[in-house]
Amino acid sequence: MIAGWKALVTGGSSGIGAAIAEGLAAAGCQLTVLGRDRERLEALAQATGACALVADLASAEGLSRAADAAAGVDLLVNSAGRGWAGDLAAMAEPDIDALVALNLLAPLRLARAALPGMRERGRGHLVFVSSIAVVGVGGEAVYAATKAGLRAFAASVRHEVAGEGIGVTTLLPGAVRTPFFDHRGAVYDRRFPRQTDPATVASTLLQALQVGTAEVFVPRWLTVPARLQGAVPELFHRLAGRWG
Ligand SMILES: NC(=O)c1ccc[n+]([C@@H]2O[C@H](COP(=O)([O-])OP(=O)(O)OC[C@H]3O[C@@H](n4cnc5c(N)ncnc54)[C@H](OP(=O)(O)O)[C@@H]3O)[C@@H](O)[C@H]2O)c1
Repeated sequence: MIAGWKALVTGGSSGIGAAIAEGLAAAGCQLTVLGRDRERLEALAQATGACALVADLASAEGLSRAADAAAGVDLLVNSAGRGWAGDLAAMAEPDIDALVALNLLAPLRLARAALPGMRERGRGHLVFVSSIAVVGVGGEAVYAATKAGLRAFAASVRHEVAGEGIGVTTLLPGAVRTPFFDHRGAVYDRRFPRQTDPATVASTLLQALQVGTAEVFVPRWLTVPARLQGAVPELFHRLAGRWG
């Protein structure tokens, strides 16, 4: 179904975005991959036959060029994002702004740019890479807020485009083996849950695109704690406070 589609993958230079880009290229999409690291981006572009778009989504200029690219696509995958770990009171104000700009504002703006073209063509799909952090995680308050914001945004847009041939999928991974943890200032040191492979996240998304799944947790068993948090939040947070 997505063969021949024009696709833009932000965060295509690394980790989950790179794995998704490889999967979409294999599925026959005409790809553009976006990131800041020209060397990594061009290596991936060469391997997948994609175009490389070097842009900083946290800057007005980079976001504007990315929005121009998003305007013509059938499939927009918002994977670019960063973490930030530590006590909220120790987080510098510019770091809060930068995290919100990249993780939340940029996907909102790119989706807005992509939607009119999708409507005109009567087809398209928006993908948002959120996180299991939507349930609320101590030491990641701002990060969790950006990811919960994305989830609510996606659910709202899904209502707006219902019946127009446009899908909206939110991907909510747990811990994934990528450089994400090196950048956020705290390594992943839990024994459980074990980290998932980015390729598994990508193949889960490709299946979700085929059936038009609204929300998908990776690994899938994370659906259980997420549902528990929704159904009995007090119990969930008591348990989370005890076991993390
Ligand atoms: N890894 C996990 O455990 C995990 C779990 C749940 C959700 N996620 C989410 O998954 C997404 C991808 O993360 P990942 O694990 O693949 O991490 P990653 O390997 O560090 O990749 C992050 C990507 O975001 C891009 N990026 C960062 N800042 C950018 C900016 N200012 N402008 C444009 N691109 C920028 C990076 O590009 P450059 O390096 O080229 O700048 C890179 O391609 C993120 O949204 C993250 O929140 C990750």
